[in-house]
Amino acid sequence: MSVTILVGGQWGDEGKGKVIDLLADRVDMVVRSQGGSNAGHTVVAEGKEYKFHLIPSGVLNPSTVCVIGHGVVVNPKVFLEEVDNLHAEGVSTDNLFISERAHMVMPYHPELDRLGEVQRGDDRLGTTARGIGPAYEDKVRRIGFRIGDLQKPAFLEKKLRFVLRLKNEALTKLYDAEPFDEGAILDEYLGYAERLDPLIRDIYPMVRDAIAHDRKILLEGAQAIMLDIDLGTYPYVTSSAPTAAGACAGSGIAPSRVDKTIGVFKAYTTRVGYGPFPTELTDSLGERLREVGNEFGTTTGRARRVGWYDAAVARYAVETNGIDSIVLTKVDVLDEVPTLGICTGYMWRGEYWDHPMANISHLKHCDPVYEEMPGWMTSTRDCRSYDDLPPRCRAYIERLGELSGAPIDVVSIGPDRQHTVVRRDLL
Ligand code: GDP
Ligand code: IMO
Ligand code: MG
Repeated sequence: MSVTILVGGQWGDEGKGKVIDLLADRVDMVVRSQGGSNAGHTVVAEGKEYKFHLIPSGVLNPSTVCVIGHGVVVNPKVFLEEVDNLHAEGVSTDNLFISERAHMVMPYHPELDRLGEVQRGDDRLGTTARGIGPAYEDKVRRIGFRIGDLQKPAFLEKKLRFVLRLKNEALTKLYDAEPFDEGAILDEYLGYAERLDPLIRDIYPMVRDAIAHDRKILLEGAQAIMLDIDLGTYPYVTSSAPTAAGACAGSGIAPSRVDKTIGVFKAYTTRVGYGPFPTELTDSLGERLREVGNEFGTTTGRARRVGWYDAAVARYAVETNGIDSIVLTKVDVLDEVPTLGICTGYMWRGEYWDHPMANISHLKHCDPVYEEMPGWMTSTRDCRSYDDLPPRCRAYIERLGELSGAPIDVVSIGPDRQHTVVRRDLL
């Protein structure tokens, strides 16, 4: 087994960070493939909590090479803050590298993100305001700045003069906002250049050699299928492809090299930001699950919307990503719920749909079709093997696996590494 992809199967925050951390000591290299500091991955290791936005969650394992791939949009300020925080905790970043081809979030991107949301008014998306959409826009428009540009000060300066004219025109004329100062941006980014220089690599030969030597590589996806720019609930999505295909594109690894795709799913569903969410629980049970599951965003602190497990979404995730193996997280959050709902499909104007509709207005107004199962009403936190789990809990897990279309090989029953039940090794 040499290349494994890990993706989120719902609307993000499934616990991908925890799973990457669990797998990191069994792989030689972790490559983060898309997204930016909109992601928030929490890892709890030996009781200590770490929060990552850009740095791959494998960094806690000192011998694992961690790479930020070219599909990521990197805010150098956020990245360096994360590095400093890790150093303060005594964690080494000697094995951390950034692709020369990765694009940068520039100071005007978060401001344009914020202003874009204000302009949309009631139709705002609820972005993380980290400038992710505007940074990917510039990449596609071919006026983006790449990490490698930091190593070419004269080029950086010339390009900034051209690009900033466009940006300041938009800021002042379209949004009536303050323009950005070229000198200040240049000084700030040349400061980052000094610190980032030793980490910048053309990662192509690194990845090629790792594959040639049969090293184990794990591709770390951020976000999740339902936030995918094409397959998600557009326009209530992020601006990248958080799929297995996106992981290949964002790391430069051919799909034919991939041996396995792991999907991480929560035992229920959450979503941050606006957009359709068919199984959302807006009642007191939803509030209770939010409290018990501590469903508040790692990046923005916003309350996550909470709902029942949506097996139609899960099947869609399994099929579009080619997921072979599921990690089911936060099962412990359901410990005290008497009856559990599982959505198996949707009814829309008398018609049954077994997958999320492309038309988000239909998805917003459809009626989910539910199965109900009895809860187990006892704590799972101390279970260490699958057979330790209460029979009703196992029945729920089995049913989710059946409906989702892939085996549930690992069950997570708490945030720490030890709160993990392995039925079948992932790697
Ligand atoms: P990611 O974005 O997919 O990496 O997920 P986040 O880190 O944003 O959100 C998952 C949250 O759930 C984090 O605070 C984790 O520490 C926590 N977590 C992960 N697995 C479990 C679990 O099995 N049970 C509980 N109670 N918390 C978990
Ligand atoms: P991780 O990797 C959950 C959501 C935002 C918003 C939409 C667009 O932690 O799972 P953006 O800032 O990307 O333009 O916002 O996407 N979003 C996430 N929701 N987890 C994430 O990442 C997310 N990254 C973006 O809330 O609805
Ligand atoms: Mg998260």
